[in-house]
Amino acid sequence: MNDLKTIRGMPDLYGENIEAISMVEKICLKTFKSFNYQEFRTPVLENKSLFDRSVGESSDIMQKEVYEFKDRKDELLCLRPEGTAGLVRALITNGLDNDEIKKFYYLGPMFRYERPQKGRKRQFFQAGVELIGDESSDADIEIILIANTILKKLNIKSKLQLNYLGDQESLEKYNEYLKEYLSGISDLPKYVMKNPIRALDSKDEGIKNKMSKAKSIKDFLNENQIEEFNKTKYKLDELEIDYSVNSRLVRGLDYYNGLVFEFLSDDLGAQNAILGGGRYDGLIKGLGGRDLPATGFALGIDRLADIIELLSIERDLFIGCVDKKSRTYAQALGYKIRKNNNSLIVENYLGNANVGKQLKKADSQGFKFAIIVGQDELKSKTLKLKNLREDKPDLELKEKDFLEHFEC
Ligand code: HAM
Repeated sequence: MNDLKTIRGMPDLYGENIEAISMVEKICLKTFKSFNYQEFRTPVLENKSLFDRSVGESSDIMQKEVYEFKDRKDELLCLRPEGTAGLVRALITNGLDNDEIKKFYYLGPMFRYERPQKGRKRQFFQAGVELIGDESSDADIEIILIANTILKKLNIKSKLQLNYLGDQESLEKYNEYLKEYLSGISDLPKYVMKNPIRALDSKDEGIKNKMSKAKSIKDFLNENQIEEFNKTKYKLDELEIDYSVNSRLVRGLDYYNGLVFEFLSDDLGAQNAILGGGRYDGLIKGLGGRDLPATGFALGIDRLADIIELLSIERDLFIGCVDKKSRTYAQALGYKIRKNNNSLIVENYLGNANVGKQLKKADSQGFKFAIIVGQDELKSKTLKLKNLREDKPDLELKEKDFLEHFEC
């Protein structure tokens, strides 16, 4: 039955998968908010031309990976492959591209038609930040601090790699050099001819070999740019954040200049990039907005979810029952408890299993406490609180005391 199949690379998420994803999202949100970033949500559909002009027509993403289609009015749209271009488009559309420094975060699904494998999906989730309007290396440092905080909170071991791409002029000079340098190779793919810097992340063995002896971007930086990069490295040293410089790191999207970076993990096999970003000072102007500097990153929520150790969820109270009458009472009791303290996780059991099976279920789901409401409890309005984690005698409590017990 074809219509019941999931689309390749777009799995349904449930059970432990979604628990891990939610945990990553929760830590991201908490961290973004602690740095005072504001949420921004843009649509998953945009005009395809937006990404051609930002991610770059010659990039792998736009050449091979974008989900594009014409709508009923023949407009060429695509599912967003990343979040930066949409956010920049939204800044311009909504007149938010003014001088004030802005700090935004976003979270949501992205789509790339890549070959699915461990850590690589066709619908995946990103969380990211964009810091608009500050050209200083302090802005770059701030977003690296956010990234580092999230990875530390999730207990993820990773390595930070940095590179510095200079500005449009140095990138153009480097591209000219690479064009000349690669001209000896016959049958150069179109994307390399169009944008020779793409040769740095080419998977073609011939190009890879040739590129291993090519000059790197750092030979094309001027003194100011070298100084800027040194400043960033110095600040990272001061903050005791480890990094290494990878002068071949150019990232797969065309909008970058200045500092670019990636965090890599050893636990993911080939898809080892868990987070990537950098500066994109020309993008807002390039898309028709004001000339504003910007920097940001996005992390792969699914990739992080694949490598975190899932902490077992602590659930609070399981309320069992023995028949219809006790179930109605139990439901009202659960409602009152949650009303008094909405941070508690309280299950009202709705099935017909015997008391033993109900307690087993409560235990296996990690509940700390359980009560079973039966005829005696209904009559006496006294509840026996079982501690499922510690070997302690049951606590007998009147309903009022029971409610107080769970108030804080
Ligand atoms: P990106 O490096 O293309 O950057 O993607 C960021 C992260 O998304 C990657 O490090 C990876 O963890 C995750 N990711 C990418 N593709 C997949 C996939 N097929 N399956 C699972 N995870 C994936 C950007 O998207 C830029 N917009 C980042 C940025 C923000 N730069 C400046 N601001």
